[in-house]
Amino acid sequence: MERTHRTWKLIAFLSALCLLSSGCWRPASAMEMKAVHFTYYVHDTLVPPGVTTVVVAGANASLTGPSALGDISVFDSVLRKTASNASAQVGHSSGQLVSLNDPAEKLIILVQDITISGYSGTISASGRFNFSTLSWELGVSSGTASFRGAMGYLRPTIVALDPVFPVVKYEANLILPKFWN
Ligand SMILES: *[C@@H]1O[C@H](CO)[C@@H](O)[C@H](O)[C@H]1NC(C)=O
Ligand SMILES: *[C@@H]1O[C@H](CO)[C@@H](O)[C@H](O)[C@H]1NC(C)=O
Ligand SMILES: *[C@@H]1O[C@H](CO)[C@@H](O)[C@H](O)[C@H]1NC(C)=O
Repeated sequence: MERTHRTWKLIAFLSALCLLSSGCWRPASAMEMKAVHFTYYVHDTLVPPGVTTVVVAGANASLTGPSALGDISVFDSVLRKTASNASAQVGHSSGQLVSLNDPAEKLIILVQDITISGYSGTISASGRFNFSTLSWELGVSSGTASFRGAMGYLRPTIVALDPVFPVVKYEANLILPKFWN
């Protein structure tokens, strides 16, 4: 087949170019990684004005009452530097929280956009956790801009279970490939 033959020749030629320039392909083992740790605080407002979390599904669902499998809340929370709601805003945490069979267990899927000293971008994370333990882990699956190719985990810890202004501390433990950054 003439066409197939030509395609293979082209691939061989491109591969040779890549090897010569040594920039097209790098083995994963040669990829340099850097560990990055920082903390920030998620601030929610559960009553108007400026509500940051709403219930979108669930027959009897409420933000603070008992939960049942399938209750879903959607949030667009504010990220701040400290546990004080007067501290500087550093981004947003948006996503959804789903209640599971055990009322203590939740599924969370979120994207946080964060701008701190030296870094700006989004972090994508998700997890299944026991809400009554007050601290848990979320696996980081990816990121954008300064956080491209991010791996690692986030550790949320409940600081204040205030019925109107709950605050959760987030500790980011990331591994970033220098290749992208
Ligand atoms: C919602 O609450 C009502 C009244 O308490 C109850 O009869 C009903 O079974 C509840 N529905 C669900 C899905 O929990
Ligand atoms: C900050 O939190 C306090 C309670 O801790 C509340 O009284 C105040 O209204 C909050 N301010 C804003 C802007 O949310
Ligand atoms: C959730 O955590 C609480 C408090 O540690 C514990 O009593 C409960 O058994 C846990 N539930 C599950 C499903 O792990």
